[in-house]
Amino acid sequence: MDPETIIVVDFGGQYNQLIARRVRECNVYCEIASYRTPLEKLLEKKPKGLILTGGPSSVNEENAALCERKLFESGIPVLGLCYGAQVMMHVLGGEVRQADNREYGRTQAWLDTSSPLFEGLPEDNPVWMSHFDYISRMAPGFQSVSHTDNTPVAAAQCPQKGLYCIQFHPEVLHTENGTKMLFNFVRNICGCSGSWRMDSFIEGSVESIRGKVGNGRVLLALSGGVDSSVAAALLSRAIGKQLTCVFVDHGLLRKDEGDEVEAIFGEKGKFDLNFIRVNAQDRFYDRLSGVSEPEQKRKIIGEEFIRVFEEEAKKIGAVEFLAQGTIYPDVVESGLGGESVVIKSHHNVGGLPKNVEFKDLIEPLRDLFKDEVRKAGLKLGIPERLVFRQPFPGPGLGVRIIGEITPDKVRMVQEADAIYREEVAKACDLWREENAPDHTRDADTGGNTDRIPDADELFIRNRGSVPPWMPDQYFAALTNMRSVGVMGDERTYDYAVALRAVRTVDFMTADAAEIPFEVLKRTMSRIINEVRGVNRVFYDLTSKPPGTVELE
Ligand code: XMP
Repeated sequence: MDPETIIVVDFGGQYNQLIARRVRECNVYCEIASYRTPLEKLLEKKPKGLILTGGPSSVNEENAALCERKLFESGIPVLGLCYGAQVMMHVLGGEVRQADNREYGRTQAWLDTSSPLFEGLPEDNPVWMSHFDYISRMAPGFQSVSHTDNTPVAAAQCPQKGLYCIQFHPEVLHTENGTKMLFNFVRNICGCSGSWRMDSFIEGSVESIRGKVGNGRVLLALSGGVDSSVAAALLSRAIGKQLTCVFVDHGLLRKDEGDEVEAIFGEKGKFDLNFIRVNAQDRFYDRLSGVSEPEQKRKIIGEEFIRVFEEEAKKIGAVEFLAQGTIYPDVVESGLGGESVVIKSHHNVGGLPKNVEFKDLIEPLRDLFKDEVRKAGLKLGIPERLVFRQPFPGPGLGVRIIGEITPDKVRMVQEADAIYREEVAKACDLWREENAPDHTRDADTGGNTDRIPDADELFIRNRGSVPPWMPDQYFAALTNMRSVGVMGDERTYDYAVALRAVRTVDFMTADAAEIPFEVLKRTMSRIINEVRGVNRVFYDLTSKPPGTVELE
């Protein structure tokens, strides 16, 4: 789509997606490809530069992940990072050895600012190291351009051949000016002009969707989450009424969520598409009645969802295309690196419907990261409150009500959750007023201010747009416990609500967020006063592991 592409060659490091994101923050389009991808295939994309990532192995191991020497001789600038730096040295005749101790954490590096990589940076610069092996001898033709107390070669270059390597991690925020180093590489050394913008992405996608779909019809399961909503908005711009969105309200959504989704995408909303809302609450409640085992609940919700969706699809008749909101991390995580079609098991659907026939799949967001999806959503006119929604599980409140689900319990958890979200939002607004953030300041992006704050990224926290205690996900759940209380002169015997709030980067591990006590107290007091059937509120302090984020 954009001729100026950087390819991140993936050696299995944990920060690979972060590298790609940082490159895109420099307004340069970027893709990730496995190190196993044959060089010819990489070159077909005509990349302006290659970045070799970190990785878990050692170049000296048998069967180590390596690349061909030819990769460094193609004339395309290459930057090796961490393990990628060692690969470059090893393949080109340098030497990599195991150190006595692993170097891990923040350390001070000296930078040779006459190197194009470090142009405009201070000579003393804190960096983030994470390595066991180190470069003990550089490959012929290289010169060292950075060192630390423990690492003689923290960066090296061979500018005549366009080869650069850095032992530390410029992509993580602990490395100060890290994005500027990547900016120097992609914009100055590779010569990318920085023309990649969300607008051009949207225009390009609209054109390619039109080309692919022709006069065909497209069906999309809209959940009201960020990804499917942005996919809907983009498809609507491209093909209007050729798109039909089916929104299944399973009765386990947050308070008023069904109406909010309808207000945005329904007939009175601003998008040009066919919107079908299926109010299937009773069906779901019926099937869930008497069921208390968590996995069985999930299974029933997933199956019923598919069934409803299939029934609607049947009513619509033949469709040529099924669309999904698959995003780039879904593609990369499945290990296919964009080389073949990935079928995301739709969170709400638990797999693609089997009885809906379609010719092809359309995944208009499969090149975007989450914050880019959000940015596209804003550009396409989706309201901010939807675009910045926190993650919400497909089975919805079904996994936030412990034990059997009843309509009355759904009401309790919906109301408690709405109060909790309101109180957290108020506390955030107050914090913002007091701390007057400067949203445009971002010294670490090579001067790029064309960015939308991304609520679930640590670095935004550092920039001060949300309070330091801001959870990545928070919600109320209904425990299955009833206890005695007193209200007025009356004895009560009611349910207990659990408030959950977690801080996490990837949702694989999480810690309880430290929401200020006064916010929790206000929330507790409002829940007990306003939600009939609840007389006690707990705060869940459990981290993950051993707990999970959701309660079931
Ligand atoms: P757990 O409870 O597994 O949650 O620690 C991790 C993250 O995943 C979300 N989650 C789900 N999302 N379908 C989803 O789409 C599910 O069945 C599901 N279960 C958990 C959860 O909200 C959290 O963000």
